[in-house]
Amino acid sequence: MTHIPAVSPSSSDAPAGSYTQDQLKALVGQAALQYVVRGALVGVGTGSTVNYFIDALATIKDQIAGAVSSSVASTERLRAAGIAVLEANAVERLPVYIDGADEIDGRGYMVKGGGAALTREKIVAALADRFVCIADASKLVTVLGTFPLPVEVIPMATARIARQFAALGGHAVLRLREGQPLVTDNGQHILDVTGLHIDDPLAFEAQVSQWPGVVTVGVFAFQRAQVCLLGTPQGVKTLTF
Ligand code: 5RP
Repeated sequence: MTHIPAVSPSSSDAPAGSYTQDQLKALVGQAALQYVVRGALVGVGTGSTVNYFIDALATIKDQIAGAVSSSVASTERLRAAGIAVLEANAVERLPVYIDGADEIDGRGYMVKGGGAALTREKIVAALADRFVCIADASKLVTVLGTFPLPVEVIPMATARIARQFAALGGHAVLRLREGQPLVTDNGQHILDVTGLHIDDPLAFEAQVSQWPGVVTVGVFAFQRAQVCLLGTPQGVKTLTF
C-alpha cells in the first residue's frame, strides 16, 4: 500500500484527520483527477462518489476531449457541467475509467450496482485500460458479499434466477422504487442478493453470467480495479492491485 499526501478538508468544520463520509467522497473524487489523461477521453461511472469526481472534472474540462458515461444520471451531470459525452460505440478504447464501488477487496475485485448502473458501468470499464476505483474506507472488505449483490435481470427470468441464488445459499429480493420494480436505464429489473460469501469472484462472475436472463452480475472481477483511491480518516490512500 502506498500513501499519497492527504487532500485538505474543503470545509472548515472538518479538523485534520476527521472527515464526514461525504468529505471522504469529495477527497477521492478530487484525487482522481491525477489519473485523468489530459487531451484524452475519460470513462465516468455512476453514484454519489462519482458525482464529486464529475464536479472536480468540470474544473479541468478544457483539458480533456470528453467523457464516456455509464448512466443517464452521469450523462446529465456531465453535460450540465459543460463536458462533452460520447457514445460508447464511438470509442475504441479509453485510457482510464473512474467509478465508485459498493465493496472492494484487497485484490481489486468489487461489488457494484448499488445505483443500478452496473451493466453500463461494466461496458465502459471494459473499454478502459485502467479502472480507478474511488471509495470511502467503509467500502474496503476482506471478502465480497456483505453488501447485497445487485444483479440486473430480464423481468421474465426473475423468479428462476432467485431460485438459482437460493441454491447457492443466497436470498434474492426484487429492488423496488416507490413500490414498483425499479426499471434500469436498459429497461430491466434488479435483484439484490444477500447471504453470499464470494470467495472466488472470477469463478462466481463467470458462473452467474451464464444463467439465462442475467444481464449483468454486480461482481466486477474480470473488470476489476487496478487502483483504488480510498478515503480514510488519515486522508487518501492509494491501493494498487
Ligand atoms: C452504481 C455503482 C456505484 O459505483 C456504487 O453503488 C457506489 O456508489 P456511491 O459512490 O454512491 O457509494 O455501482 O451502480
